[in-house]
Amino acid sequence: MIRSRIIGTGHFLPERVLTNKDLESLCDTTDEWIRQRTGIEQRHAAKPGEGTSDLCTPAARMAIESAGLTPADVDLLICATTTPDYIFPATACVIADSLGMGTKPAFDLNAACSGFMYGLATADAFVRSGAYKTVVLTGGELATNRVSFRKRDTAVLFGDGAGAVVLRAEEGDRGVLTTHLWSDGSGREVLWLPAGGSKIPVTAQNVDDDINTIHMKGKDLFRRAVIEFTNAVNVALEAAGMTFSDIDLFIPHQANIRIIESVAERMGLPTEKCVVNIQKVGNCTAGSIPLALSQARDEGRVKDGQVLLLASFGAGLTWGSAVVRW
Ligand code: COA
Repeated sequence: MIRSRIIGTGHFLPERVLTNKDLESLCDTTDEWIRQRTGIEQRHAAKPGEGTSDLCTPAARMAIESAGLTPADVDLLICATTTPDYIFPATACVIADSLGMGTKPAFDLNAACSGFMYGLATADAFVRSGAYKTVVLTGGELATNRVSFRKRDTAVLFGDGAGAVVLRAEEGDRGVLTTHLWSDGSGREVLWLPAGGSKIPVTAQNVDDDINTIHMKGKDLFRRAVIEFTNAVNVALEAAGMTFSDIDLFIPHQANIRIIESVAERMGLPTEKCVVNIQKVGNCTAGSIPLALSQARDEGRVKDGQVLLLASFGAGLTWGSAVVRW
C-alpha cells in the first residue's frame, strides 16, 4: 500500500524576540496575565519589510535538506497561511521560485490555525493518488503585524514563525495513517480579520477602527476548541484502530497552554507525551504544528516507529486531526 511518509522537517523563526515585558510598554497588559491565561512568555516577530515567504522559504529548504533531497526533487509545494505576502499571487509561488523549483506547481491554502492539517490531508491525497511523489508542505504566519495593540486580548497571543515537512510516496506501514477535517462557517466571526478581502475593502475609516486587524471572541473560541479538539482526536484514534495508550507523542496546535492541558487531561496523556512550545513562540497559527514537530525532532523526541497524533482548531471555524506512524 502506498502511503505518504514524512521524510523531512524544517522550521524558521525570525531573530527578533518580543517578550511579555516588551508588550507591557506597547499595550495595556502584564507579563503575569499573559503567562497565567495563555502560557506564553515570548514570541518572535518579523522585521518590517519581511513577509510570510521569508519565513516559509528557509523552513522548506531545511525540510528538503533534512530529507536528503534538493528542490529539483520536489513535485508540488503547498503553503498553508492566512497572512500571504500579497492577496495574489500565492505565497507558495514566491517560495517555490526562491527555492529554485522551476515551473513545478505551487498553491496556497487558507484554513487558519488548521492550515497544516488541511495541507497534510491535501498533500496525502495527492501522494496516495499517484499524482505527485514528493510534496513540500509549509505552514507559516506573520501575524504580529495583523494585530492591534489597542486590542490587548489578541495583541499578546500571536507570534511569527514557519514549519515545513516533505512527504514522499512509499510502500509500507509508516507515514500518514489517517486524516480528518471539519469546518463550521457559522462561527466565522468568532476569530476573523474583517477588512482587506472582497467584502470589506480597506478604507481610512476602517483602518482607524482597527477592522483590518484580528478580532476574536476568546471565551467562545476557548470553549469550542476544547470540545472539537477532543472530538477530533477521538475520531482519529477510532479510525486508526488505536487508543490513547498507543500514542507516543501528541502535537497539538499551540493556541493556549490551558486548551492543550485540558485536552491532554481528557485523553489521560502524561505531559511528557505532549509537545508544547507555546511558551517560546506564541500562537504561530498555520506554522504552529510543523514548527513544533520540527523542533521536537531536533530534540530527539521523534523516533522511528512512534505513533504521532496531530490536532488543530482555529478560525473558520476549522479543525482537524491526523495519526502518523514515524
Ligand atoms: N492583558 C490583561 N488583561 C487582559 C488581556 C491582556 N492581554 N486580555 C484580556 N484581558 C482582560 C479582559 O479585559 C477581562 O477584563 P475584565 O474582567 O475587567 O473585563 C479579563 O482579562 C478576562 O478576560 P477574558 O476574555 O474573560 O479572559 P480569558 O480567561 O477568556 O482569557 C484568552 C482570554 C484570549 C486568553 C482566552 O479566552 C483564550 O485563549 N481563548 C482562545 C484563544 C485562541 O485559541 N485563539 C486562537 C485560536 S487558533
